[in-house]
Amino acid sequence: MKARLRLDRDFVVGQVDPRLFGSFVEHLGRAVYGGLYDPGHPAADARGFRRDVIELVRELGVPLVRYPGGNFVCSFDWEDSVGPAGERPTRLDLAWRSIEPNSFGLNEFMLWAREASVAPMMALNLGTRGLREAVNLVEYCNHPGGSRWSDLRRSHGFGEPHAIKLWCLGNEMDGPWQVGQKGADEYAALAAETAKALRLIDPSIELVACGSSFAAMPSFPEWEATVLDRCYDSVDYLSLHSYYGNEADDLGEYLAQSVAMESFIDSVTATCDFVKAKKRSTKTMMLSFDEWNVWFHSKADDRHAQPWTVGPRLLEEAYTFEDALVVGCLLIALLKHSDRVRIACLAQLVNAIAPIMTERGGPAWRQTTFYPFLHASAHGRGRVLDLRVNSPSYESASLGPVPFLEATAVENEEGIAIFAVNRSPTEAFELELELGGFKGLEAAEHSVLHHDDPKAVNTAADPFRVVPRRLRELPTEEGGHWGLALPALSWNLVRFVRP
Ligand code: AHR
Repeated sequence: MKARLRLDRDFVVGQVDPRLFGSFVEHLGRAVYGGLYDPGHPAADARGFRRDVIELVRELGVPLVRYPGGNFVCSFDWEDSVGPAGERPTRLDLAWRSIEPNSFGLNEFMLWAREASVAPMMALNLGTRGLREAVNLVEYCNHPGGSRWSDLRRSHGFGEPHAIKLWCLGNEMDGPWQVGQKGADEYAALAAETAKALRLIDPSIELVACGSSFAAMPSFPEWEATVLDRCYDSVDYLSLHSYYGNEADDLGEYLAQSVAMESFIDSVTATCDFVKAKKRSTKTMMLSFDEWNVWFHSKADDRHAQPWTVGPRLLEEAYTFEDALVVGCLLIALLKHSDRVRIACLAQLVNAIAPIMTERGGPAWRQTTFYPFLHASAHGRGRVLDLRVNSPSYESASLGPVPFLEATAVENEEGIAIFAVNRSPTEAFELELELGGFKGLEAAEHSVLHHDDPKAVNTAADPFRVVPRRLRELPTEEGGHWGLALPALSWNLVRFVRP
């Protein structure tokens, strides 16, 4: 099969905000307890932080982590999670029907974030709580001192403010599963008033309003329009969430899911711009895709989970090679929309729907999905180029024609990185590349993630079954065009560098 990719250095989609490679840690399952916090584990430091997990987070280059939920946040009392550890109450976490011991709380997260070199994206409880508690929390975190909540922080050993810049005004507030679910008008009013109050404490913060929980919500995109009608001037970003799965075991449909993600982004963008036009505003609303991933393998098991335990095994997906390809396609979709999607969080980071897994006693290990994220995060920072892809396509029952070749390219001081997925399960691509306006580039890398078995997984016992391979044969140039082969069913990172 043949395909052609044309790019030109003058045709740019947008500058990638590094926060596009963010992630998410929720108090959920073993994400925190037994994941990033595991006192007594051989790899844990004196504070109980697992150093092997921190190393893998650093390897992934995650710049931002959303915390502490998710659904968890909507019944979370942040005050329980600060102060002397021995005096913190044990609580029922209503979202995941687990026990929350509060041994790892807000300040531990801030210490962990520093160690992992990530910035926090803090979510506020606008479910069971509201404006007052949100104001208190921002005062606790960001006000220097001399007031009740900032002095409480100081008394907890944090003289300097945490200076948290990015805040989410609730989580999935339209969801019937959410404790404290709101109607669109009710949420819009609460979000607008909360935003006003928070900015009085710290005018430098950025705020994310909740969009719909996913594109198939009956109130989408009416919810977005209503929320923005009230909040357009008060917030900086509107959130999107979406999870994908292969319940029908149909590889073609599954690999096409990034097309659905792109159409979701386009619809939310159109809704934002409709409100912008209606308000005659000069401000353009940016998007925060703060939950995205593959999530379906573990759902059946999770229905039988034993409630009211600490750190239960929940949402523990065993990601296959085909899941990694879908994650690759989703990353390409996000990059292609980097002009509007400024923040994105792979949900989540450790153990629960996560690229990083831990075992009791054993070392942390990488799931299949770790690798496309690693490549994109390491080489996908710069200017996204507006590619022209010429590829044969196949017919998806739900999404129409889908190209076998999915690709994007990012230019930076180093050179160009091309990310490409060959969706064909049987045929390799002979790919012709035209790099318009770029002179003297040298082919530097072609790494491929492929496995003959689409259902192959990595496990604690066999953690390197699905890993990328760096090819010996690099793209070759002839008459100003580059040629290379993309194996059937593969994720590819192709790099050209300036000498
Ligand atoms: O990431 C898991 C859950 O998915 C989050 O708690 C919630 O926001 C979403 O529904």
